[in-house]
Amino acid sequence: MTSELELAALASDVAREAGELARRRREEGVHLAATKSTLADIVTEADREVEELIRARLREARPGDGFLGEESDAADGETGITWIVDPIDGTVNYAYGIPAYCVSIAAVRGDAVPLRWEALTAAVFAPAAGELFTASRGHGAWLGERPLAVTTESPAGALLATGFGYDPSTHDGDLATVRRVMTMARDLRRAGSAALDLAYVAAGRLDGYFERGLKSWDLAAGALLVSEAGGTVSLLDEDSVRPMLIAGGAAVHGRLNEILGQET
Ligand code: IPD
Ligand code: CA
Repeated sequence: MTSELELAALASDVAREAGELARRRREEGVHLAATKSTLADIVTEADREVEELIRARLREARPGDGFLGEESDAADGETGITWIVDPIDGTVNYAYGIPAYCVSIAAVRGDAVPLRWEALTAAVFAPAAGELFTASRGHGAWLGERPLAVTTESPAGALLATGFGYDPSTHDGDLATVRRVMTMARDLRRAGSAALDLAYVAAGRLDGYFERGLKSWDLAAGALLVSEAGGTVSLLDEDSVRPMLIAGGAAVHGRLNEILGQET
């Protein structure tokens, strides 16, 4: 029986190695490989190479586990554990040379369905900042050696983050959501990486985060970071095409839930 801490050590090592590769490739110059769902939805050669590296390392260490990554085909495993991987979250930042990008790796047990899974371990590594965020079920969330905790108070209003999908037809709706949420905000950030947004909620650098239409690999590691840092993460409209993820400390999460729960 594998312990969460063994999985955590593997996730951290692989996230660091993969992040260093992404950083090196960025220095050498970014090459666009393709566009995906829309023109704005890009994949670079580095996204693919970094995912290949992560997949190979996980396969070597744990050949029986499943794999679900942004840039390659999913594979079922036989251990009940699935690795959920975003090789570069914040690809548009990466392509433009903005340092807010990261490698996101999580291991979950059970169905690989967002938040219905049992999240076991998470590692989010931001190579440009040299920051490694980790969490394991029941063992807390950490930035390097420092334990993390979500904020519990935001007297001047909550510092919130969000993101927008790549499909321009969703922008009006998302901007209407922003307008409603601003009633509880001191300010809003759109930094360009869902995994880092969630890591920052865990670290108390943001009070809360909301976004529609995230994929499993955008949120798997970050959601465990937030819950292990004492926060709450949930999905509204779970069965819709674009469920709404909400994360924060209890008070901010509750308020977001109230405001966003009235939308549909
Ligand atoms: C995107 C980023 C972005 C979020 C998008 C994601 P990618 O992931 O996390 O912040 O707003 O919804 O698709 O394409 O950079 O891996
Ligand atoms: Ca992503």
